[in-house]
Amino acid sequence: MKVVLGVGGGIAAYKAAELARALVQNGHAVQVVMTAGAREFVRPLTFAALTGRKVIGDLFSSATPDATLSSAVEHIAVAQENDLLIVAPATADLLARFAHGLASDFLTTLYLAFPGPVVLAPAMNTNMWTHPATQANLEALRRRGHRVVEPGEGFLACGMTGPGRLAEPAEIAAAVEAELHRRRDLEGETVLITAGPTQEPLDPVRYISNRSSGKMGYALAEAAAARGARVTLISGPVHLPPPRGVKVIPVRTAAEMRDQVFAHLQGTDIIIKAAAVADFHLSKVPQQKVKKTAARISLELDPTPDILSELGRKKDSRQLLVGFAAETENLPQEARRKLEAKNCDMIVGNLVNREDVGFESDQNEVILALRTGETIPLARASKREVADRIFDEILKLRLAIYATDEH
Ligand code: C5P
Repeated sequence: MKVVLGVGGGIAAYKAAELARALVQNGHAVQVVMTAGAREFVRPLTFAALTGRKVIGDLFSSATPDATLSSAVEHIAVAQENDLLIVAPATADLLARFAHGLASDFLTTLYLAFPGPVVLAPAMNTNMWTHPATQANLEALRRRGHRVVEPGEGFLACGMTGPGRLAEPAEIAAAVEAELHRRRDLEGETVLITAGPTQEPLDPVRYISNRSSGKMGYALAEAAAARGARVTLISGPVHLPPPRGVKVIPVRTAAEMRDQVFAHLQGTDIIIKAAAVADFHLSKVPQQKVKKTAARISLELDPTPDILSELGRKKDSRQLLVGFAAETENLPQEARRKLEAKNCDMIVGNLVNREDVGFESDQNEVILALRTGETIPLARASKREVADRIFDEILKLRLAIYATDEH
């Protein structure tokens, strides 16, 4: 395959030479693009020798003194010809420019023009890495579907010890392979996802709801669309932009969500119920705002329709059903109990009484309880990365179910 290796201006640029060699050894044609900063650390000739190709430098580089640098303004051609863009080291400055869409040199311009998968291997000083600006830029880039190869912890060139050190070239090369082979594996699939909370009105101005932000369901929709699926997202009220290429159907109550789910069920291959559906509602909502009084009032609530259970009863045998279990204790047991009670193929279980993961967080740490009896813990990662891992496991699970059904 054809891979572009973007090299940023950091001390770890020398390790990118080893990465270039690993990519070539894996059989790829590697086009190196160096920023001006990178060329201060390593000479382009190193990369030209390792890849057997001219290194691309500046966007307007007629004055480039080095004969190994291409002078052409060819970012569009490079963007169209290549299968993947890997940037290592991705400096704090590059991450910021990618996140905000600046096109101030060849590499950032190429990034904007590049339609394929992007892998980023950041490296920088610990304080720069942990700075909220860098972390916000990374989050934006992850949400865009780029794979981030996390930096390791260790001794840094600046004398500090901590996170920020470029991942090992072998690890980055492995991430490139995974990304090249993973894409588009949901092509031809129709995926139905529910996300967010529901709101159950108490009167025209008040409602009952919950803390769900919708981020996990939206990350699943983004991941599925990026992998080629046709995606319908039935969403409760959230503050999130609609994911690219996804059909979003906004709903408010559990009853509306139920109706939309069943209206879209036919022809769906994979159903994922990530929504935190309210369990109770007021079946007769007063027409007028309830007046404030000094007296105590009580509400009599009725259960909402359990959409997941109804899906478990009605789905056909080829449809894969995935539910969520948000728990505050006994996670594996609860996940497995729900799997069986609701006739699901997979339950994604997460603990919701932790601050760092779950509700409202950009990160999640979950376990997957599968119909095959297996329980798979997924390491803490961004919701987008967790979403991709969930789809990896859904595809494997389907193969396993088909294999046992046939024999
Ligand atoms: O049993 P519990 O409500 O904890 O199960 C959670 C799972 O059930 C989630 O996948 C959620 O979307 C789904 N659910 C539903 N309808 C409800 C309540 C929950 O589909 N009324």
